[in-house]
Amino acid sequence: MMFPVSKIDKLMARMTLAEKLGQLTMTAAGFAVTGPVLAGDSTDSIRNGTLGSLLNLFGARHIQDMQRIAVEESRLGIPLLIGFDVIHGHRTVFPVPLAEAATFDASIWERTAREAARETAADGVAMTFAPMLDVSRDPRWGRTVEGPGEDPWLAVQVARAKVRGLQGDDLASAESVAATAKHFCAYGTSTAGRDYASVDISERTVREVHAPAFAAAVDAGVAAIMPAFTDIAGIPMTAHKALLRDCLRGELGFDGVLVSDYNAIRELIRHGVAGDIVEAAVLALKAGVDIDMMAGAYREGLPVALERGLVTIADIDECVRRVLRLKERLGLFDDPYRRGATPEQPEAIAARRRLAREVGAKSLVLLKNAGDALPIAERSARVCVLGPLADAAREMRGPWAGAGYEEPSVTVLAGLREALPNATVAHAEGVKIDGQETSRIAEAVESLRGADVVVLCLGEAADMSGEAASRAFPELPGEQRALAEAVLERARGAGIPVVVVLFCGRPLIVPWLVERADAVLVAWFPGREAGHAIADVLAGRVAPSGRTPITWPRAIGQIPLFYAQRSGGRPEKPADRFTSKYLDVANSPLFPFGFGLTYGRIAYANLQVTPASVAAEDDIEISVDVTNEGARAVEETVFLFVRDRVASVARPLLELKGATKVAVEPGATATELRFLGVDLEPVLESGEIEILVGPCADPTQLLWSPIAVRAQGRFSSESDALA
Ligand code: NOJ
Repeated sequence: MMFPVSKIDKLMARMTLAEKLGQLTMTAAGFAVTGPVLAGDSTDSIRNGTLGSLLNLFGARHIQDMQRIAVEESRLGIPLLIGFDVIHGHRTVFPVPLAEAATFDASIWERTAREAARETAADGVAMTFAPMLDVSRDPRWGRTVEGPGEDPWLAVQVARAKVRGLQGDDLASAESVAATAKHFCAYGTSTAGRDYASVDISERTVREVHAPAFAAAVDAGVAAIMPAFTDIAGIPMTAHKALLRDCLRGELGFDGVLVSDYNAIRELIRHGVAGDIVEAAVLALKAGVDIDMMAGAYREGLPVALERGLVTIADIDECVRRVLRLKERLGLFDDPYRRGATPEQPEAIAARRRLAREVGAKSLVLLKNAGDALPIAERSARVCVLGPLADAAREMRGPWAGAGYEEPSVTVLAGLREALPNATVAHAEGVKIDGQETSRIAEAVESLRGADVVVLCLGEAADMSGEAASRAFPELPGEQRALAEAVLERARGAGIPVVVVLFCGRPLIVPWLVERADAVLVAWFPGREAGHAIADVLAGRVAPSGRTPITWPRAIGQIPLFYAQRSGGRPEKPADRFTSKYLDVANSPLFPFGFGLTYGRIAYANLQVTPASVAAEDDIEISVDVTNEGARAVEETVFLFVRDRVASVARPLLELKGATKVAVEPGATATELRFLGVDLEPVLESGEIEILVGPCADPTQLLWSPIAVRAQGRFSSESDALA
């Protein structure tokens, strides 16, 4: 049932200023073993109506206890809004978002979000701070792990699927939660990949690369959006009136709730744009931020601001109304206890584990498989599983698995033992993930004697990526290189293939390892079913199908490296010194965006693009023959790129416009040939556009065909570019 707006108006007419500011305030609850411990006087604040939202609280009973205080003991009985970070599954931990992006499969993104929403709602929570939609082209940035990777088209698809999955058809359902698209905007380009650092990029890049996913989330009806901690060219996003009010609310038509990031309003003082908490609160309110997460700035600053005439009560009311409307849309006024009322069924939990295993396997990316080292031959009698991540249950979850702690994840060692019941599976850790101790390397090397294959599990610890986890050297930490070199050396001497399983929340700079290992499988962090998912692929039950959603550089100095770069006036020519290149490393990546092998070989031929010439709104038919030349069924992701060689604004060398999984759905895709012209307005220009199709963003692996575009732009109008 809709709660008519007039009822909200009536409610607001009865609210004191303190109660209004309470609705704009969100504070954190921590957990003790016996239940939630609210920071400071939060329980009293809920009771006296001056606290409207909580975060970091889950568990139906705890939440209902808090809700009861709000609904039954506060003067107006307004229910609480409870938010929690559900980044990749709630109780059942799915692969980290970057890993899920590697599936290039929107149905998977939606299914895991739907299941996460069910678990979250069953835990009493009504709102989550996801999906994270920050495009990232910098592996130093730890939060790369939380997002969709480097490409705006991909980010748009993830945005739609995640919002649909989390919010379902009906936000008021006991199985739905409000989604929060975050972090608006361009957080992924913080200077030098350092978390929270300043951002300074062009409006074009904001509009072409970073904003589209948020526009897609708004189109999909996202309930909330969180501004980034960062500034753009000196204006912190929490106070960015032009981007929040004019662009997000005005241009994109977003009418949901803007929730600040943690303490971000108070941090406007540190940013250097507010002299005190009053000014900070005014800036955020004027920019249209509705909920103050953790800063207490609205409660503290706005009464003074009102007195001084810096804000009006109408400014405050506008935000209060949006918050109350969200509570109403979530069905909280009708029944504040609906979420968490029905306990989860064991079959649903078991089905989620199967989903975690399926998605875990599909998100693995096979970077190398020399001599068909994988899958592990059925006759292998002795498998040696080495490395600090071989039996590391806690790490398998990856970062941001707040509520997923109750059951340990399946490790690679356990998964392989189950998958290969007739083999002897030996194990040694060798070194700690980030330790300095090398004395156990020799023992690990000894243990591979007589093995048929070595599975070497290397990489980062879960908490080396995520928030506040930037790394200047995104490489193997600790003494893992020493372990790997010793193992590779001995195995080569003994003719034993070495398969590296790499755990990471970002691309790691490991050219030497890729060079020397027989096979490299990127596992990212697969979550609850990690070991099963990895063993499914290693043992050949499932053929790998993941594709990297982000470029793998050869060297740190190449960062930021991404496929959609522009040509520049002096593109790289190896023989010509005065071209755009390094003296000490090639420009090309170690692995391009979209790269990923499978068991067998896929061949592309016969690209057909018809008609040869199109005008605006015409359909283009693109077909290509994809042949599986291998012996087993595989899933192939076919990418569609375009390149506009001559336009009024230099376009990237390649732009992704579609991706289709061949075994899943041969697809129609809306291919946008317009781009933002000189004036940043969308334009379709006459001329030739290349259509490129193939397995990844390596131009040498793409088939291409030109198409003529007949349009208004460039040669037929008084375009600025020709002036
Ligand atoms: C800070 C993070 O930037 C944000 O993504 C998260 O949702 C909030 N903390 C709440 O935990």
